[in-house]
Amino acid sequence: MVDSSSARSRRSCLAVPGSSPKMLSKAKGLPVDQIFMDLEDSVAPIAKEEARQNVVAALNEGGLEGKVRVVRVNDLTTQWTYRDVIEVVEGAGANLDCIMLPKVQTAEQVAWLDMTLTQIEKTLGLEVGRIGIEAQIENALGLVNVDAIAQASPRVETIIFGPADFMASINMKSLVVGEQPPGYDVGDAYHYILSRILMAARAYDKQAIDGPYLQIKDVDGFRRVAGRSAALGFDGKWVLHPGQIEAANEVYSPNQEDYDHAELILDAYAYYTSAEGGARGAVMLGDEMIDEASRKMALVMSGKGRAAGMKRTKTFTPPEG
Ligand code: GLV
Ligand code: MG
Repeated sequence: MVDSSSARSRRSCLAVPGSSPKMLSKAKGLPVDQIFMDLEDSVAPIAKEEARQNVVAALNEGGLEGKVRVVRVNDLTTQWTYRDVIEVVEGAGANLDCIMLPKVQTAEQVAWLDMTLTQIEKTLGLEVGRIGIEAQIENALGLVNVDAIAQASPRVETIIFGPADFMASINMKSLVVGEQPPGYDVGDAYHYILSRILMAARAYDKQAIDGPYLQIKDVDGFRRVAGRSAALGFDGKWVLHPGQIEAANEVYSPNQEDYDHAELILDAYAYYTSAEGGARGAVMLGDEMIDEASRKMALVMSGKGRAAGMKRTKTFTPPEG
């Protein structure tokens, strides 16, 4: 469990079906921030049990250094969830960072997972609380309860929007995930849902993650849809195909100009508020007035850039005399 201010970056979260050992192995070499091995909707019911074993083997095999290692279990309305959690955590708990719980509807469901994880960690002698929870919001009830879900356990690290299930849950009149439903011509049909999730995530210090874009050959479409949630403040998005990775890593990182500008504001503000710089609270940086609120905005941008490993190309020089 990691708090979001110090959290590892999750710009690109790659979904890999647990039923395919070949895909699990191939995914390890890809430049994504997170890999989640799926036991849920990308795995056929008759393949669920074997998928658990594949996932345990893939986690224990290693090769995932530097990536957030996640397994998505089946949702709590199915018969599979408890055995998914027990088999995966007993089999590979030391090599796993988070369990993703799909279709979360209530805080109690998260509390169940928290307690189950604690029991397994105690049994195995693992550090209690280290394994985090990713909560996927995929239906109307989950969204209505999102504040309580975010607070249901200190293990919760991310709140994830699951657009496909969500569209079905609210009877949205469209079959194209993430794109605007035909006939809705007054803005973005996802704005309320994304904003609601984002507010819960920010209020309780979690990461906000956007879900999949299924037209995997349409990278421009991916960029456009990802660009909306990134602009609002989301931290990252699922990727379903190697072709979407570069776009995700780019869209959820600042561009070089914004990153440089943010670092410049931080340096300038530190200088001008110091005794040496005149102990001033509001000052001009070029044509722009900066103050404490500017510092906070700059911190967000620089935090994203630093997490993405960006290097600054401009330095602040205090004025002479
Ligand atoms: C993801 O699980 C989705 O339903 O979009
Ligand atoms: Mg789903």
